[in-house]
Amino acid sequence: MLTGGGDCPGLNAVIRAAVRKGEEVYGHAFTGFRAGWRGVIECQTTELTTNHTRGILPRGGTILGTSRTNPYKSDDGVARVLDTLRRERIDALIAIGGEDTLGVANKLCGDGVAVVGVPKTIDNDLSATDFTFGFNTAVQIATDAIDRLHTTAESHDRVMVVEVMGRHAGWIATYAGMAGGADVILIPEEPFDIAEVCERIEHRHRRGAGFSIVVVAEGATPAEGTMATQAGELDEFGHVRLGGISNQIQEEIERRTGFETRVTILGHVLRGGTPTAFDRVIATRFGIEAIDAVNEKDFGKMVALRGTDIVRVPIEEGVKELKTVDPKLYDAATVFFG
Ligand code: F6P
Repeated sequence: MLTGGGDCPGLNAVIRAAVRKGEEVYGHAFTGFRAGWRGVIECQTTELTTNHTRGILPRGGTILGTSRTNPYKSDDGVARVLDTLRRERIDALIAIGGEDTLGVANKLCGDGVAVVGVPKTIDNDLSATDFTFGFNTAVQIATDAIDRLHTTAESHDRVMVVEVMGRHAGWIATYAGMAGGADVILIPEEPFDIAEVCERIEHRHRRGAGFSIVVVAEGATPAEGTMATQAGELDEFGHVRLGGISNQIQEEIERRTGFETRVTILGHVLRGGTPTAFDRVIATRFGIEAIDAVNEKDFGKMVALRGTDIVRVPIEEGVKELKTVDPKLYDAATVFFG
């Protein structure tokens, strides 16, 4: 078993569930790989038994460690992965990760490796599953932060710009913005015009509100030609490192409206700490389904949440396209803008 990509609350709950059912019900033995695909390439293993996984259900992060290593990025990466799996006598691999980790899992299936995938990410941007675990926790943390920012914004008559993670999908921003009563929500799916954002804030202030809350997804982008932005560096999967757009938005709002404006970037706080009860339950159900799939030799599958059911879908379905925010959901949020 391995955990790859950005960590996320609920990873330990998946590990615990798969190990518990695998050992106690099916009599399987587990090997944990440290630090995602890097651990498989470098054959860094750790013992994984029911005893090792006791007490980890509420613990954030991952006891296995994680990395953003991509075996397909180095010449001998895949050969080393296959070599490790042979040497460690691994019959099946449970890969817990997001788009990148499961993308590698999917390619390895093509190279004959028996893999089952478990969808993880606070971003909730994987297709074929209604929710990924970690998302609910991130939304709750962001909502709590927005509630707190409301009281200080109101006391000082300020505009508060709150930036949340989510990469190129605005799920966290939309859910937390709706739950926290945001006055404007900016997401990557809907390029924004800063002039319109300022107009909404001014309109609200003309109607008597002394403060405003603007929730910004880190991947939000201005409509072409409306505001200049800076590009960040790329990781091994070719993803740009996001974060900081809210600083530019804050400057523009202050310059254009004259309202005192402050920024809070929630960043990795959204990924830290204990998972919510909802995430603990889906993570546990995912772990159990994953080991059931292994036991039935149903490989090349990703476990997924559909409605209230846990199902299996081809890994490819989960990673083939980014799941972006439903326009109907965003439309509902816009009723409360300005
Ligand atoms: O994919 C999860 C995520 O937290 C994104 O929301 C964010 O853009 C990225 O990971 C941050 O990555 P890192 O942990 O490498 O800074």
